[in-house]
Amino acid sequence: MQPHYRFAGFMGKRVHLGVSGSIAAYRSLDLLRALLEADCTVSATLTESAARFVTPLSFEALGASPVYGSMFEAAPSGGSAFGHLEPGQEAEVMVIAPATANVLAKLAHGLADDMLSCQALAFPGPKIVAPAMNPRMWDSPATRRNWDLLDILGYTRVQPDSGHVACGDTGDGRLAPLENILIETLKALSPQDLAGKRVLVTLGPTREPWDGVRFWSNPSSGTMGACLAMAAVLRGAEVTIVAGPTALEFPPNATVVSVTTAREMHDACLDLWPGMDIGCATAAVADFHPVPFGPEKYKKGGIESLTVHFEPNPDILKALGESKTEGQKLIGFAAETSNLKEEAARKLDSKRLDLIAANDISRQGSGFGTPTNEMFVLDSAGRRETWPVLPKTEVAWRLWDHLQLG
Ligand code: CTP
Repeated sequence: MQPHYRFAGFMGKRVHLGVSGSIAAYRSLDLLRALLEADCTVSATLTESAARFVTPLSFEALGASPVYGSMFEAAPSGGSAFGHLEPGQEAEVMVIAPATANVLAKLAHGLADDMLSCQALAFPGPKIVAPAMNPRMWDSPATRRNWDLLDILGYTRVQPDSGHVACGDTGDGRLAPLENILIETLKALSPQDLAGKRVLVTLGPTREPWDGVRFWSNPSSGTMGACLAMAAVLRGAEVTIVAGPTALEFPPNATVVSVTTAREMHDACLDLWPGMDIGCATAAVADFHPVPFGPEKYKKGGIESLTVHFEPNPDILKALGESKTEGQKLIGFAAETSNLKEEAARKLDSKRLDLIAANDISRQGSGFGTPTNEMFVLDSAGRRETWPVLPKTEVAWRLWDHLQLG
């Protein structure tokens, strides 16, 4: 799992995982692992047919507890005789993945003839369903209708993927990518205080070419921005990421615009900004670009030294601040090696920001390439806070809390 998925707030949150009898059942083991890696506590139910594809022992061995099977077999360790009611009392979210056509039909009509369908019926919290089946079964009018009914019943529906399925057919019906199911599950455990907000995040370094093979850049990994983007997605925002070159993976439901140079990042951001509610600039933008030598490789010949000339790049955040309209909010970052608080205050003011998070990149546990940051946070209302060294995920979560309060 990518580090920007691990938010402390999910620690110990209880998820109930329902698994039904599809060839995709083996992928629910990876889903279980991902949920456990996100620090959730997971219980599971396998239908009788699911247990033909994967075993309860595999779920137990990976850490699911309890693991329920048939209604009338002995209660699993950690469970009681009222297993059909327990997830509804204990778990905060129920996710059924994979859900077969039969299970969709049962859920849509409130049938309760086995452990999983009883548990779903008795579950009062958010329910997520991710189907997997043959494309012709998926396309059948009965399944289409059941799928619509599940929407009316308030299920969060994770659309199946398209492609080859086990039986050789091609079409819709493959279990969705696990990341999509995981994100919907974590969303159900998160406040939706950014719902309806369109958020723009810049992240990563920029790369300024000099000759055919060389460029000017910096070691930003983009992690802080990825954490902010992920936290915003989980809290309900519609997120657009303008990313310089990074190796990171981004949430599947974020729009990603990939750029290379500061100029490209500037143009992409200014195009997008009028349609955004919140802008968040974490990118380590190169302030200067070398005056290009050209598309050829510069040959060293016999020279002793080399002088490269630089010209300024646009300040993207400042440009966003200058065109900020009422209701739009802007968050900036400041990477400093001295005068942290003074520089943060100066940038907050000169770039017309609502909130700035500044860190001293010369300190251990802060800055480029670290999983943590130590932040001084200042907002336009004058609130000033110094936060301890925190994982970047926590910094991101707190910044969204902070902006909401402001
Ligand atoms: N920023 C930007 N465009 C630039 C430079 C910076 O959008 N050309 C943004 C960064 O993403 C960050 C904030 O401005 O949110 C501050 O960046 P920082 O590098 O700390 O400061 P600079 O504005 O470059 O100023 P200085 O070089 O004086 O520290």
